[in-house]
Amino acid sequence: MPPSPDLAEFLDASRQRVNAALDRWLPPADEPPRRLHEAMRYSTLGSGKRLRPVLVYAAGSACGADQSVLDAPACAVELIHTYSLVHDDLPAMDDDDLRRGRPTCHRAYDEATAVLVGDALQVLAFEILAGNEHMVATDALRVQMIRELAVASGTRGMAGGQAIDLAAKGSKLDLPRLEYMHRLKTGALISASVRLGALAGVASAGQLDNLAQYADAVGLAFQIRDDILDEEGDAEIIGKNPGSDRASDKPTYTSMLGMDEARRRALQLHEAAIDRLRDFGPEADLLREISGYIVNRRR
Ligand code: IPE
Ligand code: IPE
Ligand code: MG
Ligand code: MG
Ligand code: MG
Repeated sequence: MPPSPDLAEFLDASRQRVNAALDRWLPPADEPPRRLHEAMRYSTLGSGKRLRPVLVYAAGSACGADQSVLDAPACAVELIHTYSLVHDDLPAMDDDDLRRGRPTCHRAYDEATAVLVGDALQVLAFEILAGNEHMVATDALRVQMIRELAVASGTRGMAGGQAIDLAAKGSKLDLPRLEYMHRLKTGALISASVRLGALAGVASAGQLDNLAQYADAVGLAFQIRDDILDEEGDAEIIGKNPGSDRASDKPTYTSMLGMDEARRRALQLHEAAIDRLRDFGPEADLLREISGYIVNRRR
């Protein structure tokens, strides 16, 4: 099912907006150290879906934020995400050769450069959030955003989930443990995207709570769909080589539950996500549609 015209337009506009902001914030490729700056731009400015920035813009809009105050959090979450992909692809982790339709960073450059690209993208995210020249937010709000993004990226979020993922190679996990791993490695940053957008819109505590529950459901659904695409996706469309999880004997939703059950579980989470938005009106329609897009996406 293709996205509705409204969603397609929003996805397109959000991608253009965040791409332009990333291009502005990334150091120029001709500034030394050139190889590092070029590799940062290579990894970041490729054909990513920009789902996390899209969620920042959609959650911010649902809470009445102006798009201009959302560029900084949108870029920050995308930079953390890109850093996580560059490191995820390294030989010491998933050892993958293809990302966003082209050679992975360590293939196009070298491993040391890929490690540094990740390091530099990660701190650039926080540099952007800490600066106040690009966004209308109070100091207290900016500190809260920095803290939430740090927690989502650290051992209680993405990095912790990656550690569990790597330790689980070749073994089986029970469903609660698999779900826990997915929530950390992928869900945490997706939740942070929604929460940062909502914070920039100065959401009420009640709104923030509902949005956090929505984000929790779509974050898990996103990784289930990623597991499904690793089984049945087409490299030309997903921009990475399918079969990577199976080749490294990773426990995933599909290996544990089978394709049909994984699909059913993703749809259930989509319904749960929509339900969490019941106190919102049409201002949350994009978030509702994005949830459907996440569980039906082909890439
Ligand atoms: C892939 O994320 C890695 C996961 C966390 C599942 P995306 O599917 O969002 O990758 P890009 O940003 O579109 O390349
Ligand atoms: C990675 O999960 C999640 C990250 C934190 C990067 P995967 O290893 O499944 O992501 P892909 O399939 O390589 O994009
Ligand atoms: Mg991985
Ligand atoms: Mg991987
Ligand atoms: Mg995957």
